[in-house]
Amino acid sequence: MRRRLRVLVTGAAGLVGAEVTARLAAAGHEVTALVHRTPVLVGNDGTPLEAAGVRCLTADVTRPRLGLSEADHEALAGGIDRIVHCAAITDFGRPEEDYQRVNVDGTAHVLELARAGGADLVHVGTAYVCGERDGLILETELDEGQRLANAYEASKLRAETLVHKARADGVRSAVVRPSIVVGDEHTGVVRDYKNIYVVLKLTTEGKVRSIPGQYEARLDLVPVDYVADVITQVTERFDEAAGRTFHAVGAPLTLRDFSDVMAEYPSFQVPRFVPPTSFDLGRLPREERVYYERVVALYESYFRRRMAFDASNTAQLVARPAPGGGQDFLRRLIDHCLESGYLGAPLPGVADVLARLDLTGADVSGPAANDANGAGR
Ligand SMILES: NC(=O)c1ccc[n+]([C@@H]2O[C@H](COP(=O)([O-])OP(=O)(O)OC[C@H]3O[C@@H](n4cnc5c(N)ncnc54)[C@H](OP(=O)(O)O)[C@@H]3O)[C@@H](O)[C@H]2O)c1
Repeated sequence: MRRRLRVLVTGAAGLVGAEVTARLAAAGHEVTALVHRTPVLVGNDGTPLEAAGVRCLTADVTRPRLGLSEADHEALAGGIDRIVHCAAITDFGRPEEDYQRVNVDGTAHVLELARAGGADLVHVGTAYVCGERDGLILETELDEGQRLANAYEASKLRAETLVHKARADGVRSAVVRPSIVVGDEHTGVVRDYKNIYVVLKLTTEGKVRSIPGQYEARLDLVPVDYVADVITQVTERFDEAAGRTFHAVGAPLTLRDFSDVMAEYPSFQVPRFVPPTSFDLGRLPREERVYYERVVALYESYFRRRMAFDASNTAQLVARPAPGGGQDFLRRLIDHCLESGYLGAPLPGVADVLARLDLTGADVSGPAANDANGAGR
């Protein structure tokens, strides 16, 4: 085994933080899990993490010294080798000052802790600090004067800039930038249905039928288990990772790919992507307009972007191959949403209907009959 590390994970109860905590603890490291409002650690598959070696510490990154007494802060700083900084506000549509306090000031306070104890920092950013740039986005790029789509992205850019600047006064750091974090690569299982999942629900239920966007736009979905593996390896192999940035991304899907997969599910409504110049909010039915304004508008720019993320640093450092993604992965995510009930009960396939009518032995061949997983595609 590699050297046993003493690691502090912030945001340890979050979707990504819990998976990173589980991996580091399982690898034999001494993990301190910084928790905030949620004191219980639960893995992505819903299993409580009672792994040996995990100590929970309640703290608040928005406060100087993380809200700890001077003595406790000093003791914490002196007892860690590495910090994995996952804590952040990740949902959209909050007041700008919330993002500043948690994502930017919170990172500044975590940097102070690293500086006080000489700990190394693995900062979890977002691939979408690229804002609305199109084309190939390099891991070496950060502030290219890009237009940022929302206060979340802007705060993550400011936070990452702080991390870079702190290198000048001796804080060694590496940055991992996930794209849009979704369910497990092989099972599709996800603990929290947030962000893109909410849009998926509103559209498949027909509550939102048209969205301004372009069918050639690309969405990059990355499995949570892969993201956690990348962060864990960057933490363990920090000497090789220091000073570098790692995109933790999947294979982007176009909105055309999305629409085609959604059309395979008979219970789904498939939204129409309308060129932004001809989208007219005023013509939407009242209820749809409300959903649009409250939710979809927050994600709208993601339906226009045509970026691709270079992940050369990650490919070089991380042993696990990059996720294949593609339409099969999207089907796995959707199937899990159906099986878990998040997207409502799947329509029964022909085989199920005939079985219920006691017509066994009837010829049920054809695409809808092939419904062993109950997804009703
Ligand atoms: N999820 C994605 O799609 C995605 C994509 C790209 C990048 N990322 C980045 O990945 C990291 C982890 O994301 P995630 O999806 O795991 O987020 P998450 O599930 O929303 O978890 C965020 C964690 O931060 C904690 N936190 C919030 N305010 C805090 C405070 N004042 N003090 C201490 N902790 C606080 C939360 O604790 P409480 O809930 O107890 O307050 C929560 O455990 C974030 O930096 C995010 O920006 C996420």
